[in-house]
Amino acid sequence: MFFLSFLFDLCDHSSSSHFPSNFLFGTASSSYQFEGAYLSDGKGPSNWDVFSHQKGRIMDGSNGDVAVDHYNRYLDDIALMHSLGVNSYRFSISWARILPRGRFGPVSHAGVEHYNNLINALLNKGIQPFVTLSHYDSPQELEDRYQAWLNPHIQEDFRYFADVCFEAFGDRVKYWTTFNEPNIAAMHSYRTGLYPPSRCSGSFGNCTYGDSETEPFIAAHNMILSHAAAVDTYRTKYQQKQGGSIGIVINAMWFEPVSNSSEDKLAVQRALSFLVNWFLDPIIFGRYPIEMQQILGSSLPKFSKNYLTKLQRGLDFIGVNHYSTLYVKDCISSVCKAGMGSTKTEGFALQVAENNGVLIGEPTAMEYFYVCPRGMEKIITYLKERYNNTPMFITENGYADANNPNATTESFLNDFKRIDYTKSYLDALATAIRKGADVRGYFAWSLLDNFEWIFGYTKRFGLYHVDYTTLKRTPKLSATWYKQFIAKQNVIKSLAQEN
Ligand code: NOJ
Repeated sequence: MFFLSFLFDLCDHSSSSHFPSNFLFGTASSSYQFEGAYLSDGKGPSNWDVFSHQKGRIMDGSNGDVAVDHYNRYLDDIALMHSLGVNSYRFSISWARILPRGRFGPVSHAGVEHYNNLINALLNKGIQPFVTLSHYDSPQELEDRYQAWLNPHIQEDFRYFADVCFEAFGDRVKYWTTFNEPNIAAMHSYRTGLYPPSRCSGSFGNCTYGDSETEPFIAAHNMILSHAAAVDTYRTKYQQKQGGSIGIVINAMWFEPVSNSSEDKLAVQRALSFLVNWFLDPIIFGRYPIEMQQILGSSLPKFSKNYLTKLQRGLDFIGVNHYSTLYVKDCISSVCKAGMGSTKTEGFALQVAENNGVLIGEPTAMEYFYVCPRGMEKIITYLKERYNNTPMFITENGYADANNPNATTESFLNDFKRIDYTKSYLDALATAIRKGADVRGYFAWSLLDNFEWIFGYTKRFGLYHVDYTTLKRTPKLSATWYKQFIAKQNVIKSLAQEN
């Protein structure tokens, strides 16, 4: 033991992180942000293809038509992953590549072949595929035919898509997640209108149709029931035979009260309920969080007896995307300025600074992403306690630079801030694990700079820099750091096995 801690100090003065021996270290991506090839080989148009082609939707006027061309360059990208030494890769399957028209058309063999090739190439390099079924993108046909997530029909479409994927890839994929950040998708698609189908009303956004008060909860309900349908299919038809596990990925910020008042502390509970537990409580406990029930009352959709009977082990693990911590202010007993997350009904507002203006952490290029590593330990401990230490994976964590067009490539490559961020969040995660949290993996967002939704290519999250003219990938210092960090973990692992 003494020898091990000596080794830690020798290798890396500022990090004493230590992770379980079968821990997954990987990088994460998603189909729309990475693949490009947006209509290649019979792929159907997705909601994001249609949306990003509309004028004014994406900040820099760009889209994901080419993205970082991962569809064509996946072998090169796997070589990069291999050189990092990661043992897992989190990616999503483009629904419209597998089912260009949803259930209203055939399965695309070219689509299935693409993911077969990707999965086989990963496994050849000893990299476990960690697969998301829906990372914001879905076939546009479902929107055009029946308004996608607003309609219960989508549950059967999603179940069918999941079934096709389990059958085609489940012999080799051992980690499945149904949705990526459905809590963010429901909010931005149906409250702020910032994501397709860009519906909103009132003071929430600039839409001409939608209902920001009710639609996010209807869409979320359909997502929860779609998750349940996919899990049920996996459990009844595949899990025993294939031996994998299935979960869901939620966006989980940490929240702190902006003051010590009991009102602000209660507002934190409401923020956690509305923004984090919204999906996990129904999937794990079969009901919405109490705070949501109290505030939304009968306007919150109900779960049927059939759902509750089927709700046994609604997930095997929780995927946690954690980047930032924010302050929460009560808006029931005091008046809040309009701003992020603030709603009259829900009674809380999110703030980046204390009332005296002191920021919660160092800002990054993303508006609400502040460097606050203690939030990692706090959110993991909170989820551990609330959900009886259900296994967790950190499915995303990372740092963004602004893609300032005047900056030199060199300035992006010397990304000391990304290294500091990653190191401090991994340390905080290791502390949570040491104190008993069952966390089984960590995925850095992201392998490459990529298309950051409404921000287009204006944010750079990659361990590798991408030149958007040539699509050349160049390692940043953080790639070298991550590689050394993983190598060190492997040394520790083998020494521990010897002893
Ligand atoms: C979470 C989302 O899953 C991912 O798509 C996005 O790029 C990162 N956060 C960074 O904002």
